[in-house]
Amino acid sequence: MTSMDDIVSLAKRRGFVYQGSEIYGGEAGLYDFGPYGVELLNNIKASWWRANVHRKENYVGLDSAMFKNPKVWEASGHTQGFSDPLAECKKCNTRVRVDKELEKISVTADEKMSEEELNKLFDENRDKIKCPSCGAKEFSAVRAFNLLVKSNLGDFTDTGERPVYLPGEACQGIYLNFKNIVDTTRMKIPFGVAQIGKAFRNEISPRNFLFRTREFEQADTQYFIRPNENKEDYEKIKQDRWNWYLDIGVRPEKLRWKQHENVVFYAKDAWDIEYDYPSYGFDELEGVHDRTDYDLSQHMKFSGADLTYQDPHTGEKYTPWVLETSVGLGRLFLAVLSDAYTIEELENGETRTVLKFKPELAPVKVAVFPLLKNKPELVEKAREVYKMLSEHMVVEFDDNGNIGKRYRRQDEIGTPHCVTIDFDTLEDETVTVRNRDTTEQERIKITDLTAKLV
Ligand code: GAP
Repeated sequence: MTSMDDIVSLAKRRGFVYQGSEIYGGEAGLYDFGPYGVELLNNIKASWWRANVHRKENYVGLDSAMFKNPKVWEASGHTQGFSDPLAECKKCNTRVRVDKELEKISVTADEKMSEEELNKLFDENRDKIKCPSCGAKEFSAVRAFNLLVKSNLGDFTDTGERPVYLPGEACQGIYLNFKNIVDTTRMKIPFGVAQIGKAFRNEISPRNFLFRTREFEQADTQYFIRPNENKEDYEKIKQDRWNWYLDIGVRPEKLRWKQHENVVFYAKDAWDIEYDYPSYGFDELEGVHDRTDYDLSQHMKFSGADLTYQDPHTGEKYTPWVLETSVGLGRLFLAVLSDAYTIEELENGETRTVLKFKPELAPVKVAVFPLLKNKPELVEKAREVYKMLSEHMVVEFDDNGNIGKRYRRQDEIGTPHCVTIDFDTLEDETVTVRNRDTTEQERIKITDLTAKLV
């Protein structure tokens, strides 16, 4: 069975993901996407954008500034309510997220609990909770730790009098631009706005590779609707998001729905699509939230701007409700990578590791090999084919080692096809095309290659 260590090791070995600031000993909760990782990530984003903007008549895209007027985060409720309960081990100083520790012993801490209520619940269960690092059972009192990350952008005082915040969630820029979009485009309610943006959270215990990090990207859609008219749309949006996962090749048995028992402060109803991650099982991948008119009402209250909508046909005026979908791209990347990861036994008894990405997502679409490195005529022809194909797709040229080794390397990064240029190519302008999944090979004319591979 595939473990998280297998995934982390392949991700590092093959240049998908590196620990952030590795040469300085790393930094918790931060990762860098390597050469193949950034290609995979960009392909995932492009697929998401196509599905959520280009293929939907009543959705438009947005890219808002990360920094915002600090009042935005007061209005959104994040300066007050965006916290996780933290306790510290008195023996080794490890900080734990109390709700997660309680969850391990099947006790639920409500998202809306006050510090006092959390302490009471923690005290009732202290004897069952051990420090994950040293095993001790002595913890400090619980405090609600705010997750927002502060910066001094635009603040030139030494004392940091006007802190601004990095985005705690990417979606706020969409609410701030609701009126602009209504006034400058042909969008009429119901309509959606999609955005991919960065989010930062001072997570107490970042864990499980890309699953819980301190810096991550979120791909969000916010669908603006008439108040209360939400059940049908909500179900449609949920179904649509589920179908997209199947479309990008995620196995349905690895996905499931979970409704939140305790919803966060901005939501009335919340469902997660969970993925069955290697080693630790089902956990949240994407959230689908009914945010009611919470966000637009709060921004009206704090900014004084009128964010109501007037129906152009009936004249009815109202504050729209919002249905949100939000997926973290790190988690999505992890799910796609884990889902594609396959170990296969070969006829000669050896095994191969192969990433069976849907070709649309594969970082490299085709690898081009000259059969022999030391035959200039083969290398020259292979470079010609490389140049021709690279006009249309991401191609890798590889003349290192024997062909079998080159196939293994491409299998491990999930390249759907490998093209080999041999002596016959020089005679008849045909090449061998090897399929990643079946390992079958066929002979194809160079002039037909592009059409076959795009
Ligand atoms: N705007 C709504 C919102 O931010 P959320 O449930 O807090 O809701 C949405 O986050 C998604 O963002 C999650 O489903 C998850 O995929 C991702 N996410 C949240 N916190 C994360 C973290 N610390 N590291 C990686 N991804 C995270």
